[in-house]
Amino acid sequence: PTEERINDLLSRMTLEEKVGQMMQLDARGADLEDLIAGRHVGSILHTSPNDLFKACEIVQSKTRLGIPLLIGDDCIHGYSFWPGATIFPEQLGMAATWDSDMLRAIGRATAEEVSATGVHWTFSPVLCIARDTRWGRVGETFGEDPYLIGELASSIIKGYQGGTTADEPLAKDAILACAKHFAGYSQTEGGRDASEADLSRRKLESWFLPPFERVAKEGCATFMLGYEAIEGVPVTFNNWLLNDKLRGEWDYHGTLVTDWDNVGRSVWEQHVKPDYAHAAADAVKAGNDLIMTTPQFYEGALEAVRTGLLDEALIDDAVKRILALKFRLGLFENPRLPDRERINASIGSAEHEQLNLAATREAIVLLKNNGALPFDAHSAKRIAVIGPLADDAQAQLGDWAGNSGQVDWMPQGQPRNMITTVLDGFTQLAPPECEVVYSRGANIVDLRPDPEGEFFPDGQPRPKIGVSAAIDQALIDDAVENARRSDLVVAVVGDTIQMIGETRSTATLELQGGQNALLEALCGVSRETGKPLVVVLMSSKPMVLPACVIGTNGVIVDESAAAGTSALLWAPCPGMKGGQAIAEVILGLTNPSGRLPITFPRHAGQLPVYYNQIRGQHGNRYADLTQDPAFAFGEGLSYTTFEYGEPVIENVPQDGAFGTCDTIHASIALTNTGSRPGSEVVQAYVTDLVTSCTWADRELKAFQRVELQPGESTTVSFDIPVRDCSIVDAQAHRVVEPGEFELLIGHSSRRPDLTCARFTVRAQSMAHANR
Ligand code: IFM
Repeated sequence: PTEERINDLLSRMTLEEKVGQMMQLDARGADLEDLIAGRHVGSILHTSPNDLFKACEIVQSKTRLGIPLLIGDDCIHGYSFWPGATIFPEQLGMAATWDSDMLRAIGRATAEEVSATGVHWTFSPVLCIARDTRWGRVGETFGEDPYLIGELASSIIKGYQGGTTADEPLAKDAILACAKHFAGYSQTEGGRDASEADLSRRKLESWFLPPFERVAKEGCATFMLGYEAIEGVPVTFNNWLLNDKLRGEWDYHGTLVTDWDNVGRSVWEQHVKPDYAHAAADAVKAGNDLIMTTPQFYEGALEAVRTGLLDEALIDDAVKRILALKFRLGLFENPRLPDRERINASIGSAEHEQLNLAATREAIVLLKNNGALPFDAHSAKRIAVIGPLADDAQAQLGDWAGNSGQVDWMPQGQPRNMITTVLDGFTQLAPPECEVVYSRGANIVDLRPDPEGEFFPDGQPRPKIGVSAAIDQALIDDAVENARRSDLVVAVVGDTIQMIGETRSTATLELQGGQNALLEALCGVSRETGKPLVVVLMSSKPMVLPACVIGTNGVIVDESAAAGTSALLWAPCPGMKGGQAIAEVILGLTNPSGRLPITFPRHAGQLPVYYNQIRGQHGNRYADLTQDPAFAFGEGLSYTTFEYGEPVIENVPQDGAFGTCDTIHASIALTNTGSRPGSEVVQAYVTDLVTSCTWADRELKAFQRVELQPGESTTVSFDIPVRDCSIVDAQAHRVVEPGEFELLIGHSSRRPDLTCARFTVRAQSMAHANR
């Protein structure tokens, strides 16, 4: 019946109405009547609550067919632009939990809040692989590993869409998900946003496509296309990627949306299309459905059909897919307007606050601890909380959080009383007899307005992007004085919204402004007085920390240089509850259990430094820099200790070798040998010992988060399909190659942290494009 209704509607639409249906335009400051009634626009994004009511009313009263609008927004760690909505840790922080159930719960909570406001569709999650961390959008990703990305993306999508598959109707508290940015956007040259990404098809098949393939086949409703070009063809027009791969090989029937003005930019920026008619025609031929913020698409597509550049039947196909989404949401029966009652019940609810706190606790990664943590504050007189991010409520939320001027109707960011900064956290949790003192200590970026540059929506000049602040000795002196009279020093440093996000890649990864000088000075106090210094890195991505925190970053790794720093925590833009979770970890109220979803370099010159590098030859290293990263993928410490047994493969076939359709059942014993309850993330990697072409030394294939009481033991089991032990051969075909493999299980991706069992795969290879 839905198909009949779609065909009936389509048969009554004019060409203009069909082309308009394919357009998604920015509602901010727009003449909504002109967009909706004049140009038949089918979708809007970045809509304020008032505009949303107005837009729906225009559809009802001023359009011929009353086709409901599809409303989308970037709700990528909560509905960050809605005042008072729950803001979770950024996506990289969510990844640090290594907790699929948590991701599903976050997706569910976000969907409840977003759907109540009348928005139908979130442009989330990001499935880009973060390898060049100079890229500004690393914090929006799930990190560097294709398996971890696929698993977490799959979970949050299930949460958003309420577990529905491809064509099932969406419940009223579910929203559409969007897998983005398809594909290879993170791999742009020099980490610069939206530059060329010259990825070979083999590289795409090997690492960049598998997470997308998984969610396409699991029914993610929509895909967004990246800004970049692959093999010289911008993704928006890339027939191989869109028609052969996504629509063809993976049989994907969902809806495709371009990124911001991809179609227009092909004309005015990339100069690969002579005019908008050609750009529109080629975008439709490549299979795009919704064209984001290219107003010229309207005239372009009409001209393309009239001049024979484009077959109207292809427009019909796209419109059918868009209408199918609207039917799936039930919009024709219920336009899903903002629902006051549901908004009051769900936006920022106590239940979501608790979920957020639980997620944030799991997201914090303890990277170094010389025994100073957990800190017992009961015998302390004073704690110094120092640093430019110790009490910066909006910076703590990260990007897409109503604090970056992206949305005009919420320029001030989220309500201050919903956010717990680190200073708030210590003030609330330190014993009453322990005083908490604060010093800013340093500035990060130069925030003086730049009249020559960009402007805020209210006409005020913005500061120049990415200009480092000068060292302010008076701020450092104040911090040192507070540090000297305290029993514990907590220094909160990192990056800010001016240095992260779309179009904000950075050439360097060092702490900006006066932060390194501040850390040097505080380390000096710690060395001299023996007072513990805990460094909290609150950043959207791995940063290069100074020698006084991680040892020298040159050829010699000298840990004694870092003796002044007692402990290091990473809090990836931790959201509203960040300060509480950080204080809890430092004071021992929470046992840290986050694990790195991405490698930390010692020096930006080591990039890319991801763990699953291709095996190279004897020259595959620098002469002036160690190969060793500062912290490896999967690492993270706890206040308890875990002991692993030997991995056991439980179902070795009688002839000693697995077939390519088998599943390996493996297990390992794990004991909490310490004195506190704690969670371990058990990680399973596979190495194919000899491959027909160069391949990664090891790759993550499974993981499990396990909580154990002191002294408790358990057996952790994994099922790993043999087909997942495949490589991509020199012809870009995915195959399982027969021979010997290692199954490596343990605490992190570092080899010394892993124990090994071997298995064999029988001589019978299998191409499994159709997994
Ligand atoms: O969803 C985003 C995308 O990730 C980057 N460009 C703008 C889109 C809509 O805001």
